[in-house]
Amino acid sequence: MSEAADACATPGEPTSDLAEHVADPAAASAALDSLAQGSSGTPALRPDRELIVRFRGVGKAFRLYDQKPFLLRNLLRRIVGGRSKPKEFWPLRDITFDIARRETVGVIGQNGSGKSTLLRLMAGAAYPTTGHIAVRGRVAPLLALGAGFQPDMSGRECVQVNGTALGLSPEEIESRMDAIVSFAELAGFIDAPVRYYSSGMLARLGFAVAVHTSPDLLLIDEVLAVGDHSFQQKCIARIHEIQQAGTTILFVSHDAHAVQTLCNRVLWLRDGSLHRDGPPGPIIQEYLQATH
Ligand SMILES: Nc1ncnc2c1ncn2[C@@H]1O[C@H](COP(=O)(O)OP(=O)(O)OP(=O)(O)O)[C@@H](O)[C@H]1O
Ligand SMILES: [Mg+2]
Repeated sequence: MSEAADACATPGEPTSDLAEHVADPAAASAALDSLAQGSSGTPALRPDRELIVRFRGVGKAFRLYDQKPFLLRNLLRRIVGGRSKPKEFWPLRDITFDIARRETVGVIGQNGSGKSTLLRLMAGAAYPTTGHIAVRGRVAPLLALGAGFQPDMSGRECVQVNGTALGLSPEEIESRMDAIVSFAELAGFIDAPVRYYSSGMLARLGFAVAVHTSPDLLLIDEVLAVGDHSFQQKCIARIHEIQQAGTTILFVSHDAHAVQTLCNRVLWLRDGSLHRDGPPGPIIQEYLQATH
C-alpha cells in the first residue's frame, strides 16, 4: 500500500444519530503524526511504536423511540401532540486510548457494554457522536457472521467482492483464491450460495478472506466462537503468524483464556466507559471476580 493510501481514514460524515462529528482527514493524519512525535502535550511514542488507532473523548449515542402499537388513538395523539422526543442512550462515553502497530488488544466487558459498538466505530461502520477517531492503514473488519456476503452469491463470488472491498486487486484475489478456500476448508462448497452455509462455514470464509488481505488492522468480534475446535486452533495459529507480520489486532471475546493467550493488552468496558486498560493477567482476573 502506498504511503498516501496509508494515511488516516477518519469517518467524515455527520452521524445520523445526534451531534455532529468533527471530521477532517488531513487534520486527523497530522494529529496522529504529531502525537507519535510527542507534541500536543503527550509523551512521545518510541520510534518503533507507530500509532495505528487513536480515540479521543469518543462517545456514541443512539436515539431510542417509543415503539407504540399502531392504534388510531396513538396516531391521533401523535398528530395532536407531535412526535415524542426520542430518548438518548449512550453505550460509550468519553473513551480515550491509542493503539500502536503490532499490539494485540483484547476487548472485554459484559453483554451490552459497547464492545461491538467500539469495533464498529473503529471500522468506520458507525460514526461517533462526540470526540474524534483516527485509524491508519488497511482495516479488515470481522464484525458479524456473513457481513458483506450476499446470500445468493457463491462463496467464490463473496471472496471476490469481499476481497475487493478489503483493497485487493482482481489479480491478487485470483492468486490468493486457492489459499483462501483451502484455509477455510470449503473446497466442496465454494461454488454453492452462501445462504446454505452454516454459521461455522460463514466464520471460516470471513476469517480466511480477512487474513489473506495483509491488513494493518484486523478487527475480530466474536466470530470465531462458532468455529469448531480444530478451526479455532487453526485461527489462533494464524493470528500468531499475522502478529509476527506486524498486523495490529483488536479481539473481542467472552473467552478469557483466548484473550489471555492472544493479547498483550486488554481494554475492559464497563458502564459505558473504559474501566481498565493494561496487561491482560490482572485485568482479566479482576473482571472475572467482578462478574461472577
Ligand atoms: N443501532 C442501535 N440502536 C440502539 N441501540 C443500540 C444499537 N446498537 C447497539 N445498541 C445498544 O448499545 C449497547 C451496546 O451494544 P453492543 O452491541 O456494542 O454491546 P456488546 O458489548 O458488543 O455486547 P455483547 O457482549 O452482547 O456482544 C446495547 O445496549 C445495545 O442495545
Ligand atoms: Mg457484541
